Amino acid sequence: MTKNIIDRDLQYIWHPCVQMKDYEDFRPLVIKSAKGAYIKLANNTKIIDAISSWWCKNLGHGHPKLKAALLAQANKFEHVIFTNTTHKVIVDLSEKLAGLTKALNKVFYASDGSSAVEAAIKMSLHARIIAGETKRTQIMALDNSYHGETGLALSATNIKLYRTPYEPLLSPFVFIKNIPYVSSKYDPLWQDCSKHWPSIIEQLTLHKDTLTAIIVEPIVQGAGGILIYSQDFLNRLRTWTQKNNIHLIADEIMTGFGRTGLPLACQHANIEPDFICLAKGLTAGWLPMSAVLTTNKIYNLFYDDFYQGKTFLHSHTHSGNALAAAVALETIKVIEREKIYSRVIKMENLLYKLMQKVAEQTGKIHNIRYLGAMVAADLILDEKQKKERYGYKIFKAGIKFGAFIRPLGNTIYWMPPLNIKEDLLWQLMEITKNAINFAFKK
Ligand SMILES: Cc1ncc(COP(=O)(O)O)c(C=O)c1O
Repeated sequence: MTKNIIDRDLQYIWHPCVQMKDYEDFRPLVIKSAKGAYIKLANNTKIIDAISSWWCKNLGHGHPKLKAALLAQANKFEHVIFTNTTHKVIVDLSEKLAGLTKALNKVFYASDGSSAVEAAIKMSLHARIIAGETKRTQIMALDNSYHGETGLALSATNIKLYRTPYEPLLSPFVFIKNIPYVSSKYDPLWQDCSKHWPSIIEQLTLHKDTLTAIIVEPIVQGAGGILIYSQDFLNRLRTWTQKNNIHLIADEIMTGFGRTGLPLACQHANIEPDFICLAKGLTAGWLPMSAVLTTNKIYNLFYDDFYQGKTFLHSHTHSGNALAAAVALETIKVIEREKIYSRVIKMENLLYKLMQKVAEQTGKIHNIRYLGAMVAADLILDEKQKKERYGYKIFKAGIKFGAFIRPLGNTIYWMPPLNIKEDLLWQLMEITKNAINFAFKK
């Protein structure tokens, strides 16, 4: 007898970020198609993609302009080795990316978020070696950070759940504690974190002479629990790194291209770092592509005769992929044409209002925080409930009621496509409420 698709899946596939045994009780969802903010399942039910498929489908599914750009490029060529070659679409894209900031005018291409983080960290260290600053070998990151799950990216990640088994292989990065978290940009701490700063300076000063770089998720830490911090903190951190000749790496992999209401989250603090990592929204989740932006100052350190040994010999097979570049270029054009940033700014208060309704009507969530097209809250649980995976129960109930919510542990959040229609957000509120009530009723 021919096995069905789920049985064949489970026979051969090891899925990401999941305990495979969970599928005994809750089978993988078979996708039939996806359009806009909706995912259609094999049984023809439609569910709202409330987390933009791991935060990358910024323009929803199946945007016709992106599809057209992909097909047009596929009719020319799909991929050619990107060392010793170039092509128009990658040059057009790079020009656009170089225009995101004043000073970060050089673009290096990698494959996904983690590989961009790896490249930026290596560039920082390598620049020190070239500059003769050989004591500067250390990296600092923030408490609760997430930068991906390859070696250096995981070393910069401060979440035990992902790190623990691999600790023996990780590099000894240092984490800054006492981050001034806020509930929104209307929290007084957003403008002024002077109370926290002495304790932070104390931590920074200890490593002042050995740091090559500090890496941050600017303004919002995603996988750490959708934690928003003070723009004043980021601004002060930038001033301090500049004063002390330390690179600042901004991991804008989740925040880049409008998630927080501005093209880059760094712009909330009015700063430019030394490196920016982009992925996810770069191709609106169509194809894996990432980029590291940096300054001519850093680039020029590497620029010399080959025999001087300064070349950045870091390569990914799919660097500069033409299909991904064509979609990325069109993504930027669609964002401009459809005025996505101003739509996000308008969505911000509505998301907060709707999550507040969920809180009032269920009595099960608190600590709401929001910025741009994202809002999060924590489940209120007693000690016994904390051991019972309520976030997971809500995820399963969410599918039943019509949305792919997938909480981060016990943090419920929405990070919908930036162009989602308002009526779907109201539906999402009802679905989330029903899912929470259902999970607690059982
Ligand atoms: C801030 C941040 N950095 C890095 C990554 C890793 O990106 P990827 O999963 O594409 O390797 C992620 C993924 O969620 C992220 O949110």
